Amino acid sequence: MTVVACLPGDGIGPEVLEQAVRVLEQLPVDVEIARLPFGGAAIDELGEPLPDSTLAACRESGAVLLGAVGGPRWEGGAIRPEAGLLALRKHLDVYANLRPATHAGIDLLVVRELVGGLYFGARGTRADGTVFDTCEYTPAQVERIARRAFELARTRSGKLLSVDKANVLETSRLWREVVTWLGRTEYPEIELRHGLVDSVAMWLVMHPEEFDVLVMENTFGDILSDVAAGVTGGLGLASSASLGDSGPGIFEPVHGSAPDIAGTGKANPTGMLRSLALALEHGLNEPALAQSVRAAVDAALEKAPTPDVGGTATTREFGDAVMAALEVPVERGGGL
Ligand code: NAI
Ligand code: MG
Repeated sequence: MTVVACLPGDGIGPEVLEQAVRVLEQLPVDVEIARLPFGGAAIDELGEPLPDSTLAACRESGAVLLGAVGGPRWEGGAIRPEAGLLALRKHLDVYANLRPATHAGIDLLVVRELVGGLYFGARGTRADGTVFDTCEYTPAQVERIARRAFELARTRSGKLLSVDKANVLETSRLWREVVTWLGRTEYPEIELRHGLVDSVAMWLVMHPEEFDVLVMENTFGDILSDVAAGVTGGLGLASSASLGDSGPGIFEPVHGSAPDIAGTGKANPTGMLRSLALALEHGLNEPALAQSVRAAVDAALEKAPTPDVGGTATTREFGDAVMAALEVPVERGGGL
């Protein structure tokens, strides 16, 4: 049986993850759910944000579902909950971060490189007090994320936009060179274009409906995928999948632990539930069930919206609405 590792984390993390677990348990899929300590909660319980036992269980799982980590309680401490998140991504080598954004005529997918670039390059402080971070990429790092993006483009409209800052940055020139070469040699049928990150950012705000698959460096992807989330209904709705070449992916909402609303029942579980759909599609090989979950979430957004999207439903009531709307395909070989 496939194990799904569930890492609730902190703040609203456990609240939104619980709805995903309820929905998953209602689906005709043979999985065992393992709840594991992670983030600030794990610091309190075991002294570290990513305990060895949690990492080991994640490695053995078919997919990792993660709520969110962090909060004022652990700020300024020697160990931060977010360190557990970066360590988990690095250990599972999930280099491809998929962040879909859909809403009223918009259906785009940001593919962000997740374990290299500016967030992982050499950093430090020189004797004169200068502080520096550096952006570094090897050709192989660019090639594998580009290949993943071409493959995804093939399953969609056959178009790929590679985003860089090749007019200024050396790493961007390498990026463009590798992506162009890969497109020419392996994906000639995909329509490849290049865009500079600043102008793409503006265009994304003004004409989001014109985009399909975009691929980019870690920092650029961090920022532009939040822009994409902003133009498609806000942080509460945005989901993500982080995938490697082998081993489990990490599926988590884009938002953080929202300490300002934790414990009030106001958290919108849509981002988490859409991440469950990504897990079904990319981690558990159940694309039809993924589609069922997406449709049920869309129905719940109409019927039982939470306060952040103009309604009054609680987190759990939203989960109830999803479960009521869930239509599971019948032609399945499973035991149900
Ligand atoms: P945040 O995403 O937690 O919250 C930003 C705003 O959006 C807040 O007003 C919050 O109430 C609202 N919001 C977020 N998710 C929502 C949801 N599902 N439903 C309704 N409203 C929602 O970002 P913030 O406040 O900057 O960070 C809070 C903590 O979360 C910090 O400790 C930060 O480090 C951490 N964080 C963790 C992330 C992760 O676990 N992947 C990502 C981003 C931040
Ligand atoms: Mg971000």
